[in-house]
Amino acid sequence: MRMYDLIIKKRDGLELSKEEINYFVKNLTEGNIADYHVAAFLMAVFLKKMNKRETADLTQAMMHSGDVVDLSQISGIKVDKHSTGGVGDTTTLVLAPLVASCGVPVAKMSGRGLGHTGGTIDKLEAIEGFHVEISIDDFINNVNKHGIAVIGQTKNIAPADKKIYALRDVTATVDNISLIASSIMSKKLAAGSDAIVLDVKVGSGAFMKTIEDAIELGKEMVEIGQIMDKNTIAIITDMEQPLGFAIGNALEVKEAIDTLNNEGPEDLTELCVKLGSNMVYLGGGADSVEAAEKLIREKLANGEAFEKFKEFISIQGGNVDVINDPSKLPSADHVREIKSDVEGYLETIKSDSVGIAAMKLGAGRETLDSVLDMSAGIILNKKVGDKINKGDVIATLYTNTQSKLDESEKMFLDAITITKDEVASRKLIKAIVNRDGVQKF
Ligand code: URA
Ligand code: CA
Repeated sequence: MRMYDLIIKKRDGLELSKEEINYFVKNLTEGNIADYHVAAFLMAVFLKKMNKRETADLTQAMMHSGDVVDLSQISGIKVDKHSTGGVGDTTTLVLAPLVASCGVPVAKMSGRGLGHTGGTIDKLEAIEGFHVEISIDDFINNVNKHGIAVIGQTKNIAPADKKIYALRDVTATVDNISLIASSIMSKKLAAGSDAIVLDVKVGSGAFMKTIEDAIELGKEMVEIGQIMDKNTIAIITDMEQPLGFAIGNALEVKEAIDTLNNEGPEDLTELCVKLGSNMVYLGGGADSVEAAEKLIREKLANGEAFEKFKEFISIQGGNVDVINDPSKLPSADHVREIKSDVEGYLETIKSDSVGIAAMKLGAGRETLDSVLDMSAGIILNKKVGDKINKGDVIATLYTNTQSKLDESEKMFLDAITITKDEVASRKLIKAIVNRDGVQKF
């Protein structure tokens, strides 16, 4: 077998066999394939597409290209969640303790952020003392004992995906449904979960720009889950504006605390309730999604989700005083309010640009070795649909690096539009895809 022949076959629109896909992934992982061969192959896949069988085979090959985590020592059904990349997406911080408080084990492997999307681990590390460097044994013990643990992603999860993704990023082959679906599902399956809830973002700030494409991606991943015998549900959600009000590590921890106290932003709360209900249902914590939702709302209202968050932070070394009194979180030396000099309605907030503006303030990494400013970020004082009067604060910038304020303010203002006409507020949940089909809202 030669890469050259695989490239010709896909270039001509033919179906690749399982053996051919395995050959590609195995040799890629072992470093036997030149980047130009991989790049040409990816472009052929991008243009001629893969069918569902090829996509499932690619997923399995990538999943087995590195470690497959064995969570069988943890009792119960382990449900994982994945979001296709959001800005200010605080959901994992809320969902992990929320789902655990419903009696469904949460064994979460998380990553750090790069570029304009934040990573869950970075956010948690804004809490003094909190760490994710625990052994796999402690990870398993903590989940069995406390129902919850978060660990850093091991280097060897789906290494083939890492190589492929790096090349997709520089060859304009990222936004292909088969490549995205196999990339996400290979990592989730390798992380050892029994069931998966996916948050597929749609909108200007997301990989999928249209609802049709997002549903297609959701279907593809649900089907891969089915083939692998892992019950999978995809929830299609709006990313035409950042989620909640806070973007930035300590700011999002504060937002998560508010949400767990049932006093969080409406959109973030709604998304956590929806994702959480589906996780609890798949995890066997309730007989129906509706019953799960009732349970989830109870745990938010009666404080048990918040108590579980404190328990979790404490077992992983975090200072619980900070959770009880969020004013003890890292705070910024420089704060700037961005005020409107026009009147109207907030029409758009481009998520990716706002994410970059927050990154410039120190909330995210521009390069792999950037040092984060935990206090840095942006609070949105207005959301899409809100009325704005002259002089109203639209957003507040936080940073320890004063020199970044001007650039970030300009980026933020470029990322929003204000219009004279009334604007409807946006619907967050657009569709749900599961084994039974698609439900649109
Ligand atoms: N997230 C991933 O992990 N992979 C993709 O290809 C796209 C989003
Ligand atoms: Ca947020």
